[in-house]
Amino acid sequence: MKGVILAGGTGSRLAPLTNIFNKHILPIGRKPMIQYSIENLVASGIEDILIITGYPHVGQIASIAGSGKAFNCEISYRIQDEPNGIAGALQLCESYVSENDFAVLLGDNIFKNCLREHIEKFKNRQEGIECQLLFSKVEDPQRFGVGTFDNGKLKEIIEKPVMPMSDLVCTGFYLYSKNVFDLSRDMKKSNRSEFEITDVNNKFIQNETASYTIEKDWWIDAGTFESYEKAFKLSLNG
Ligand code: DAU
Repeated sequence: MKGVILAGGTGSRLAPLTNIFNKHILPIGRKPMIQYSIENLVASGIEDILIITGYPHVGQIASIAGSGKAFNCEISYRIQDEPNGIAGALQLCESYVSENDFAVLLGDNIFKNCLREHIEKFKNRQEGIECQLLFSKVEDPQRFGVGTFDNGKLKEIIEKPVMPMSDLVCTGFYLYSKNVFDLSRDMKKSNRSEFEITDVNNKFIQNETASYTIEKDWWIDAGTFESYEKAFKLSLNG
């Protein structure tokens, strides 16, 4: 299976640090943020990784990730011309992924656990399943894509709701078949002028081709100062 790490975007919630530095090269504990994503994918059995980032920062990212040799993998790069959203970035990896299933990991997401068990579940999925999402229980669901469940069945994801329907939120680790490219064409931008991954995932849910797993240990989206500090401390303490 191939892996895609998204390391573009503006990082505006970590400004002014991100006025010069790409968010994903900022230190978390003893390593740059993006190193966690690379190491987790490699530990999960993925050795072929595409990093997508914006033009101004590709040099910064490449100075850390390089060819991938230092991390026992092969790393390729693709430029996202404008930060038009996670689903916008996803469209850039169609030729790289080709006919294969693939994993997408947001570069600001840090998981304590190795993601291998979720990948294995997707590899052994039921017929008809084309997408597997990973949820986590959090105290501040309104920051995320929040799952709505009915008797354990995933009904919908709502992006950053004011009144969350649950405390289970969609993490930035997504497993897809190549069908994701058909489902993410002809999308409309959201109020924040982005092509939202939640809109794509909701299409899978509506088609009844989505499944999900739940992460039991800590997971952090390190994209705000509060969560960045928390990620830094948790990473130092294991
Ligand atoms: O962290 C999980 C959350 O990530 C999910 O719960 C949400 O449903 C999902 O929309 C996303 O929300 P965020 O608002 O946190 O996304 P953010 O804009 O911070 O971007 C997440 C990552 O994707 C970040 O590492 C940068 C990368 N990215 C983002 C954009 C907008 C790109 O590579 N290109 C982009 O255009």
